[in-house]
Amino acid sequence: MLTGKLLLVIDGPAVLAHTPTLLSGLRSAGRFRVTVAATRSAEMFLPLLALSALSGAPAKAYSELTEDDLRQADVILLAPVSEHFLAELTSSDAWARLTDNGRRHVLVAPARLEAESDETMVPDGALLLSEDNAVLALGAMGAVAVASPEACVEAVCTALTPQDFAGQTVLLTAGPTIEDADPARFVSNRSTGRMGAALAKVAARRGAKVIFVHGPMSWPTPQAPTIRAIAVRSAEEMCNAVLAEVPKATIAILCAAVADYMPVAYSHEKIKKGTDATFALLLKRTPDILATVGALEKKPFLVGFAAETQNLTDNATAKLRKKNCDMLCANDITEPGCGFAVPTNRLTILFADGRREDLPLLAKEEVAARVLDIVKREISGQWTMDVSGL
Ligand code: C5P
Repeated sequence: MLTGKLLLVIDGPAVLAHTPTLLSGLRSAGRFRVTVAATRSAEMFLPLLALSALSGAPAKAYSELTEDDLRQADVILLAPVSEHFLAELTSSDAWARLTDNGRRHVLVAPARLEAESDETMVPDGALLLSEDNAVLALGAMGAVAVASPEACVEAVCTALTPQDFAGQTVLLTAGPTIEDADPARFVSNRSTGRMGAALAKVAARRGAKVIFVHGPMSWPTPQAPTIRAIAVRSAEEMCNAVLAEVPKATIAILCAAVADYMPVAYSHEKIKKGTDATFALLLKRTPDILATVGALEKKPFLVGFAAETQNLTDNATAKLRKKNCDMLCANDITEPGCGFAVPTNRLTILFADGRREDLPLLAKEEVAARVLDIVKREISGQWTMDVSGL
């Protein structure tokens, strides 16, 4: 669980739509102590009492911030702040005290009214959060573009996480694939993409660039400036995307539940039901993406997944060898709390040299963190750790 002290500076009418979601997102993302400092214009929309209730600590007027408040904060987040406030702040002495020679993380999410210029200034010594520029509707006041509360929460988490995957590019596959039979029917499976999404989120937080090739997910695709999502539908599309991206990757973790079979032929017309009681759809094998990557002459550190229902170790060991993985994460999907559409997983990790490691039943994000710890350990010595973000 992430911990840290956060000073949240808020300004302007955008607080109405942004701040409650941001504070509730921070509450579920970690154990943060949040002090909210509201400018006069923020206070007009959300009084200090409401801000105290939402943050769980006494909120302050921005004008009453003390040197102590600044000194104690591990992260200072200015979100949302109007461009006018930001321009005044960055041209004053207060800015130097806030950024404190870059020792502290200062994250800034300017809120831009529709009528304002779209050239956002990049303040010295701060990280600008504008990646997703979510549009917030403010009723009669119009709309503002600002980094979404989710993007702000993610940026805080990243700022408080050691960047031990900086310099790595992680290629991930996730979710199911869908193999169309006709305009109405398809062959697929019950994967939601949640394990892959957790891996993408944790890897990005730890400083990796993530290429996230995913089938149609029923779990939200993780958002972060360093996650590049590539949406595909079928196994063939996923295979093409992976082969195009894999030369950039230093690590590939292929955890998609790729459909093993696809219809031999796609019918452009909806297949009519006949009078027979049975119907056979002829299927053929899809490309095995993991095995294809495993057979590449120059392959990244390769991690596969295996969902088994019997003889877990034997089946998974055979897969590891056949697909030439460096590491294979196996789980028994019949075990309670494991597999599809559940928040937890219990993995047995097998290595190419015959070693084996059993992880306990953990939340999928925790599983993702442990898998990445193990990947890091296995390839340590092959990379140099970038500690500049610490
Ligand atoms: O053979 P099996 O499907 O059990 O292997 C599972 C592993 O292989 C997973 O890592 C999965 O992402 C990968 N896989 C693949 N392409 C396929 C089938 C599985 O990449 N067509």
